Amino acid sequence: MTTPRFTTVGIVGTGAMGRGIAQIAAQAGSAVLLFDTQADAIAKARDALGAQWDKLADKGRLDPAQATAHKARLRPAASLAELAGCDLVVEAIVERLDVKKALFAELEGIVQPAAVLASNTSSLSVTAIAAGLKRPERFAGYHFFNPVPLMKVVEVIAGLKTSPDTCAALTDYARQMGHTPVQAADTPGFVVNHAGRGYGTEALRIVSEGVADFATIDRILKDQVGFRLGPFELFDLTALDVSHPVMESIYRQYYDEPRYRPSVITAQRLAGGVVGRKSGEGFYKYVDGAAQMAPEPPVPQVAELPPVWVSPRAARRAELLQLLKDLGAKIETGPSPSMHALTLVAPLGFDVTTVAVVERLDPARTIGIDLLVDDKATRRRVLATNPATRSDMRDAAHALFSRDGKAVSVVRDSGGFVTQRVVATIVNIASDMCQQRVCSPRDLETAVTLGLGYPLGPLAMGDKFGPANVLEVLFNLQTVYGDPRYRPSPWLRRRGAIGLSLLHEES
Ligand code: NAI
Repeated sequence: MTTPRFTTVGIVGTGAMGRGIAQIAAQAGSAVLLFDTQADAIAKARDALGAQWDKLADKGRLDPAQATAHKARLRPAASLAELAGCDLVVEAIVERLDVKKALFAELEGIVQPAAVLASNTSSLSVTAIAAGLKRPERFAGYHFFNPVPLMKVVEVIAGLKTSPDTCAALTDYARQMGHTPVQAADTPGFVVNHAGRGYGTEALRIVSEGVADFATIDRILKDQVGFRLGPFELFDLTALDVSHPVMESIYRQYYDEPRYRPSVITAQRLAGGVVGRKSGEGFYKYVDGAAQMAPEPPVPQVAELPPVWVSPRAARRAELLQLLKDLGAKIETGPSPSMHALTLVAPLGFDVTTVAVVERLDPARTIGIDLLVDDKATRRRVLATNPATRSDMRDAAHALFSRDGKAVSVVRDSGGFVTQRVVATIVNIASDMCQQRVCSPRDLETAVTLGLGYPLGPLAMGDKFGPANVLEVLFNLQTVYGDPRYRPSPWLRRRGAIGLSLLHEES
């Protein structure tokens, strides 16, 4: 084992996070001193970690001698003063600025001048915690994620006065602990919690407009984009008592920036105690830990399908025509649909109603399909009705697009269906983070895939769906909603023609 960058590490606050950080520090070979103001917290942390290492040794996944060595490296500290010999102290106490400032002021007088001090804060400003310290240059944010040993990314956050050496030491040590460090500017939400604003908030907005219920939105985003959990499953897992305050805090800290606007839906559910899996009910009800999912609406039985006409302005028109052929549809090729034709449009960003009006189509027979996603690459097709769509046309489209067994969801009319809105919002927020230099594009991609578990980094996601398409969705959403939250970031606009993740090297 290489010599750890920090040989003696103090952990202040041995709850969920402090315990996890202590574990990976001990595994990296550092001596770890544990301090907590709660009498039994240190013993509990040591017992839990010891039991975990023993279990791994029993299963043959850890050398028993190593388990013993790890345990021997954990030592209790009866007072803060016992951390005097630490070359790094990581704080993971209660998330309160006054308490953290008081702690670091005290620690400054205890540790050696060369020691590094770090806070695991997830929402406070690193600069604000450091304000008043005699040596703010040796203080930084060191933001881990829960559970620490499994979430293998850590944000190293430089406050206004943090020195590059301090960040470099914490970065090296993160690697020794088996984690991937990313550099974040001291901005609200840092990288991961900032980049995560797009997914849930846009999904909540879609639900609040009555476009689709939350279970349908979860299914669409999992099947069309490849998210492991839908946004509402994720809310239930994280619990609204954690995620709603984060949404509010980032929104307020950015002076009510519309992109981060939270939803009254989660505010009300939080007030009502319907917070998620841990309370037995969130967006889903839980029985024995399992979410109760209502079955999907059945595919309607339709005796005879009408002929289909496709708008010349449809996105991916050639692919759509091929798909219709493969599904055995009777395709009309005239300049306008016949009296009986099911009329298909595939807008990017625009709603089906607007397209029907602009293209002078009969809205009663007009249905939209979301073709931002390549049909071959998706497990689900998403159709949208408009308020005038006849139910026989809706059922015919549903039956037609289900013919090859692929799942179909039918949602109500809104600009951008579901996937377009959520993907465009995620890409736009990420682009704006690059614009603001919150982190490098490369670190953004790393932090989001490791910290949020997205199938792709947001910039790679933008490239997958096409930067020009994402821009078109945003421009048109702005027209439909007149809402500045869809205003494309200048960073995204400048890269619309050349791609987003290609330029990783340029920060
Ligand atoms: P926790 O409540 O599980 O543990 C906090 C521990 O700190 C408790 O044992 C408490 O007795 C101790 N403590 C409180 N004030 C203290 C003080 N003045 N001196 C010494 N010990 C003190 O909390 P958790 O979840 O471990 O969070 C700790 C910190 O980590 C917070 O700043 C939080 O924002 C941050 N964080 C939490 C994450 C999470 O998912 N739980 C994720 C990332 C950061």
